[in-house]
Amino acid sequence: MEKKNLVVVGYGGMGGGYHAAKAIEKGVVNLLGIYDIDPAKSELARSRGIFAYDTYEDVLSDDRVDIITVAIPNDRHFERVTRALEAGKHVICEKPVAMSSEEYAKMVECAEKNNCVFSVHQNRRWDVDFLAMKQIYNSGEIGKIFNYESRIHGSRGIPSDWRGEKEHGGGMLLDWGVHLIDQALQLFKQKITGVYCKFIHTTNFEVDDGYKLYIYFEDGAQAYIETGTFNFIALPRMYMQGDKGTTLITDWREKAKVTVCKHWHESDVIPVQTGAGLTKTMAPRDSITVDEYEIERPTADVYDFYRNFCDVIDGKAELIVKSDEVMRVMKVMEAAFKSDELGQVVAFEE
Ligand SMILES: NC(=O)c1ccc[n+]([C@@H]2O[C@H](COP(=O)([O-])OP(=O)(O)OC[C@H]3O[C@@H](n4cnc5c(N)ncnc54)[C@H](O)[C@@H]3O)[C@@H](O)[C@H]2O)c1
Repeated sequence: MEKKNLVVVGYGGMGGGYHAAKAIEKGVVNLLGIYDIDPAKSELARSRGIFAYDTYEDVLSDDRVDIITVAIPNDRHFERVTRALEAGKHVICEKPVAMSSEEYAKMVECAEKNNCVFSVHQNRRWDVDFLAMKQIYNSGEIGKIFNYESRIHGSRGIPSDWRGEKEHGGGMLLDWGVHLIDQALQLFKQKITGVYCKFIHTTNFEVDDGYKLYIYFEDGAQAYIETGTFNFIALPRMYMQGDKGTTLITDWREKAKVTVCKHWHESDVIPVQTGAGLTKTMAPRDSITVDEYEIERPTADVYDFYRNFCDVIDGKAELIVKSDEVMRVMKVMEAAFKSDELGQVVAFEE
């Protein structure tokens, strides 16, 4: 099969720094050029030997273009994506795909009507820390999972660009939350019954500069997801509890630590001193009753996203990032906004 021709719309951090650069580096797709509304970005691309279209119409009317990747601020996705689909182009859109589930439904409908492949760049499904958790989750080695915690903590505040502005779809829930929710829902396939979210506004009162979010599932399991931008000491990246063991990933660079309970009962628990008191309940387990080990970090190539997208165009595969999965994430984010506004758990119907 011939390589597909790609045009990247938006030559900023992600469009220029990832999509265009990786297209050249990986050679899976052929980068025809870029389009950006900012002439300075077009000049920058040209200075790097990349063709820059003068207008979006020029991109859409170029019959050579197979795929358009849209990497621009979130509130502008809808217009660029639907016009590309109407012009018969296959489209990859950056996350969060849309400003609402309603908007996203219209995009999906437009793709179907025009017989085009359309997917969302949920690249963090290839994060190695997440893949380690997924491996443990699916292996059953820590039993039935009842609690999953996923945190990302930084200490630089929210970026001072469009991410700090509501009208552009700013805020950390839409920025990082969309990834962490997507990861969690790759594990928990059971029905969601409720969502609770509390936004943090440390310096930004227009959008959240952090949030704490719970997703509740019908079997009693819960996923806790948090992003913070004022965490000068970060809490561990991931923590997962099953009824037979626990998993911890302290940092995205570290291996997953697993502790599995071999024997529930211990004959003689020796009380330990904690603070000003003694406890047996909280005494650490000994090596007779638990196995402790680390698992190797899985290997992954995030460019499989593009390989899969091209295979789908050729009718050789199904999309990895499917529209019903993206819709589920959009609806959880909407429920999170509602929950923060109401200050209560919001019921979720599936
Ligand atoms: N998947 C990821 O890991 C990841 C990481 C970062 C950003 N993103 C997403 O990528 C998108 C872009 O983010 P960014 O960090 O690259 O932003 P950015 O501000 O660095 O770049 C955006 C670019 O889009 C251009 N632009 C704005 N409106 C346009 C329009 N209507 N048509 C054409 N060009 C337009 C701007 O001139 C700018 O060059 C966002 O949706 C963001 O959430 C995803």
